[in-house]
Amino acid sequence: MRKPCTDAEAAARSENHGPALRSRRAFIAALPLIAAAPALRAQAPAPEPELGTPGKDAGWIPTPTGMVEAMLELAGVTKSDYVVDLGSGDGRIPILAGKLFGSQALGIELNGDLVAYSIQEAKRAGVADRVQFIRGDIFATDYSRATVITLFMTPSVLRRLRPKLLAMKPGTRILSYLFALEEWEPDEWAWSEGMHGMLWVVPASAGGHWQVRTVGASPSSYALRLAQRFQKIDGAVRIGGADRPRWDATLRGERIRFTALEGERRHDFTGTVAGDGMAGLLHVTGEPQRQWIASRA
Ligand SMILES: C[S@@+](CC[C@H](N)C(=O)[O-])C[C@H]1O[C@@H](n2cnc3c(N)ncnc32)[C@H](O)[C@@H]1O
Repeated sequence: MRKPCTDAEAAARSENHGPALRSRRAFIAALPLIAAAPALRAQAPAPEPELGTPGKDAGWIPTPTGMVEAMLELAGVTKSDYVVDLGSGDGRIPILAGKLFGSQALGIELNGDLVAYSIQEAKRAGVADRVQFIRGDIFATDYSRATVITLFMTPSVLRRLRPKLLAMKPGTRILSYLFALEEWEPDEWAWSEGMHGMLWVVPASAGGHWQVRTVGASPSSYALRLAQRFQKIDGAVRIGGADRPRWDATLRGERIRFTALEGERRHDFTGTVAGDGMAGLLHVTGEPQRQWIASRA
């Protein structure tokens, strides 16, 4: 029968058993490290983004943080918003939206290293519960839930995106650093350190012929004709058989306002557009305020 050996004898024997046993012992010794490897890998910092890293439709150059704040403030971002940055780079815009305004935010970015870096920075900033990043192409990813969209893309990319942006829910705010949406003029501008950002509010569809009538006792009716180009509206209201010049008309998202003059009497309409209907309040000089509704012919 083989006698149990001392530790020293066992060590000496193992020396004599050659590389096979030695490598087995090394493997056993390394087991805790092997088990921890996924965790160690997860903790490895994401590579620092490099300015000018090429991208599919634009390379990575960030919007300066002062400008990010100025643009988000201009858009009146709140915690009820869902801010989506198209081509989110190092993630600063969604992270700042979450951190400064408490918003839900999403970054869509094609470069996997930038996505990994953004996720790491969102955790560091303590906003990972409300700020997400996904790897995806902005031309193939659904962002229709957004209430605010941010962009720093070339004019040709903006041109391609414009039809989709214009079809977003009326009232959606669009922010772009430096580059514009061509003939769709901005509603407002933001300035920071001599550079500019722009805000557009997606307009409701308001063009066409509308039948307007007041609600309640002794109703009056009006025929309203509106021509629309992006957020600009022009046209006329017919009162008492005559077209009244309409001026100072504005459309911001779903909110519409227009005024008609009948001699000295002003007809001030304010309201909202929803599909083929409108509703709001009418104030005629010297008369109590009334409700009005309209339907598109
Ligand atoms: C000019 S940087 C803007 C980064 C960030 N939005 C900002 O303002 O700080 C453009 C970013 O879009 C990314 N990008 C380019 N084409 C893209 C595409 N088709 N889909 C998603 N991301 C894209 C680039 O990798 C880059 O990070």
